Amino acid sequence: MNLDFDLQRFRRLLELSSEQVLSLYGSLGERKVTHASSPQLIADRFSGPLPAEGREPEELLARDIPFIFGHSTLNISPRFFAYVMSGGSQVGILAELLGAALNVNHAKWHLASAAAEIERAVIRWLSEFIGYRADAGGALVSGGSEANLYCLRVARDEKAPGVREDGCRSARPLTLYASTETHSCITKSVEMLGIGSRHLRKVPVDSRFRVDVRKLEEHITQDLKAGLQPFCIIGNAGTVNSGAVDDLDTLADVASRYGLWFHVDGAYGAAAAAVDPTSEMFRGLERADSVALDPHKWLQVPFEAGCALVRDWASIRRSFSYAAPYLRAKSDSAEKWDWMGHTFQLSRGFRALKVWMQFQVYGSRKLKAVIEENVSLMRRLGAEIDRAHDFERMAPVPLSIVCFRYVPAHGPSLTDDELDRLNDRLLEECERRGEFFLTGTKLNGRTALRACLINHRTTEAETLGLLAHLRTLGEELTGAPGPERGAVSRSGSAR
Ligand SMILES: Cc1ncc(COP(=O)(O)O)c(C=O)c1O
Repeated sequence: MNLDFDLQRFRRLLELSSEQVLSLYGSLGERKVTHASSPQLIADRFSGPLPAEGREPEELLARDIPFIFGHSTLNISPRFFAYVMSGGSQVGILAELLGAALNVNHAKWHLASAAAEIERAVIRWLSEFIGYRADAGGALVSGGSEANLYCLRVARDEKAPGVREDGCRSARPLTLYASTETHSCITKSVEMLGIGSRHLRKVPVDSRFRVDVRKLEEHITQDLKAGLQPFCIIGNAGTVNSGAVDDLDTLADVASRYGLWFHVDGAYGAAAAAVDPTSEMFRGLERADSVALDPHKWLQVPFEAGCALVRDWASIRRSFSYAAPYLRAKSDSAEKWDWMGHTFQLSRGFRALKVWMQFQVYGSRKLKAVIEENVSLMRRLGAEIDRAHDFERMAPVPLSIVCFRYVPAHGPSLTDDELDRLNDRLLEECERRGEFFLTGTKLNGRTALRACLINHRTTEAETLGLLAHLRTLGEELTGAPGPERGAVSRSGSAR
């Protein structure tokens, strides 16, 4: 039973889909970033039974897609400052369509030779972009979490090869080291690899949220004395909380002194190694044994696109290369690159196309310009906060994350606990209204408003508009008669 529509109808459906996309992008300026619908409303909308008979796709496109678009938080909006999420790109939209149309699986070269070679090219370009090794191995994966897991798997296998067959219990307990600011996916990875999160040593940070290298070394020597097997140091190239970049060069020294694998989590920040104002911070990145980075973050590629880079291809193959007899082909040969021997996946979609098209169309120069502009805008925001009488910055701004809090300029001064509660309410209110969206975090145990910008659509107007908006909300919540009080437009100018 052929499921295809005739070509004329398919063309019409493509046109209708394009119209939905154009209407979404055409109304981005007016749309709220978040939506205030009740969870029940959304759940009810999708609680229907499995459809036995299909519906007309025209009707689905007209009725359901606008509902889905209208009930999604819009990280594509220039007023989105939450988490670490980019706005994607129009080239990415095209690439997703074209890749899905071809629907290849390039687990094996002979199934999709162009896709297989494109992924190799993309690995080379990504490595070059961040100033890592020209001959690095790697693979595209779903995102930063999987990239970290992938790299740590290779690290474990290289440093404790017996574990692959005999399991972790057969070896001395493996230990690894990362700062307290390290992303939670590292803990998840360590648990998935059977190492046990108790063996992930969380090393304290300094006043700039960078790992304290002296304490790190103390942990390593204690573990060695206790008969454990330290095997890996993880450096942060842009922490998720504040964008802190560890002293990667010194971490590489420590790793080499103790014969440990040196992994860098650059899921968010590594792309900033490519641009002048920030590149110096990443000295030592090139000495890493592996790096996780995320094209779906600062390179503006649509979800999902993560990348694991590993110093050499051979170590990747040692971890991932298994070939069941049915997967061998007569035409296999050394120059035909089989991706299945370099990743956990067997079926692999054409994720590389959107990364490749992104570089082809925008070129590395424009993509770098986006990063530079984001960094400069957030440093500007940091400077505005420093100048303001009613906001307080809570961390340095090394990359494009600003952590701060609202401290009312009027009325009695508030305790830290009261400020935590006020800023939590501010975050809630901001999300409820949906004009802008930012999230919070805890720094030194205190609530921080956390604005992160990795979006090519955001300009100075939205960046300063965010601060003006938060000020208005803060004044409303505290009942303060601020001079800036009043309706504030989305671009930040008082109306
Ligand atoms: C530093 C860091 N590492 C890892 C991750 C996880 O990446 P992903 O969400 O792509 O799985 C993030 C996500 O924000 C991150 O900021």
